[in-house]
Amino acid sequence: MTKATTKIGDHLEKDIVPNERNTVLVEEAEILSTKAYDGAQYALRLRSPRVAARGKAGHFVHLRCAPELWLRRPMSIMRANSKHGWIDILFKAHGTGTKLLAERNVGDTLSLIGPIGKPFKQENYCRRPLLIGGGVGIPPIVFLAEHLRERSVSPLIMMGSEVPFPFPVTPSQLLIDGIPNHVTGTMPLMEDWGIPCRLASRQGFAGCFDGFVTELATHWIKFHREEHNEEIEVFACGPTLMLKAVANIARQFNLKCQLSLEEFMACGLGGCAGCPVEVRTSEGVAMKRVCVDGPVFESADIIFA
Ligand SMILES: Cc1cc2nc3c(=O)[nH]c(=O)nc-3n(C[C@H](O)[C@H](O)[C@H](O)COP(=O)(O)OP(=O)(O)OC[C@H]3O[C@@H](n4cnc5c(N)ncnc54)[C@H](O)[C@@H]3O)c2cc1C
Ligand code: FES
Repeated sequence: MTKATTKIGDHLEKDIVPNERNTVLVEEAEILSTKAYDGAQYALRLRSPRVAARGKAGHFVHLRCAPELWLRRPMSIMRANSKHGWIDILFKAHGTGTKLLAERNVGDTLSLIGPIGKPFKQENYCRRPLLIGGGVGIPPIVFLAEHLRERSVSPLIMMGSEVPFPFPVTPSQLLIDGIPNHVTGTMPLMEDWGIPCRLASRQGFAGCFDGFVTELATHWIKFHREEHNEEIEVFACGPTLMLKAVANIARQFNLKCQLSLEEFMACGLGGCAGCPVEVRTSEGVAMKRVCVDGPVFESADIIFA
């Protein structure tokens, strides 16, 4: 393995050592566009050709939100376009770093490292992948949906949010068996891609299922369970409580399931042991690092705190 020589100028991040797949890169990414949504949510398109060429659904980038903030923040890649060399991220501004990130403008550059981590599985899908995204867990679900579409696999998407969705909720023309008829709200991008998608919230948003996204998922799985259970597998990203609920659903209905975890991170490169999670392995319970051993894990392996 060769050692990358790029210096990025602070004491934690000396030289970046690529992983076995030689995929961890450093880029100065120019902001190509910014969009602001209700609920202090923002989408950025970044020129990052090398990360765009290698990013997979479930990967994240570790980025410096502002030059004065040396500790990077992890952000999932929402879309990656290798042809045009850009990636999209979507984030909620709530703390020091994300608020500074929200103030960055088109033309600014962000130092980022990526793509990092173990992505969602890339092949051998069951016939009916069910993708569940909650809040800022929506971005990797969008990426996975696009990946599946490119492989002619037809997933069902469910998204939940307790702040307004970071897109205009529109009524879907795509019917889904096992979903109440009045629940029609979808993400326009999914409708454009011909992917069935439904939204859930407890905030009474028009067209959305009134409840948690996991309740909507349970409703749909129960409708299909006898006929199709072996054909359903679940992929989810979102807040820990939502992931715990998804893990319970997977256990209850005996479904394959991969979850993308979130944890506070310092180095983001496997070096500081700052992001541990307890996981069952063939050799017993072990501590794994969410940044490089994850963020995607098999649901059945995770021991939630
Ligand atoms: C793999 C992954 C993907 C993610 N993807 C997205 C995404 O797509 N969109 C999105 O909006 N968010 C995403 N997040 C969450 C996002 O990284 C956090 O919201 C962001 O780091 C918060 O930074 P902040 O400075 O705004 O918040 P603050 O709460 O101010 O955090 C400041 C810093 O302190 C650290 N910190 C805070 N509390 C602790 C603690 N108890 N122990 C140790 N360190 C602490 C944090 O790691 C952070 O570096 C992701 C997280 C992970 C792990
Ligand atoms: S953040 Fe340092 S090991 Fe994961």
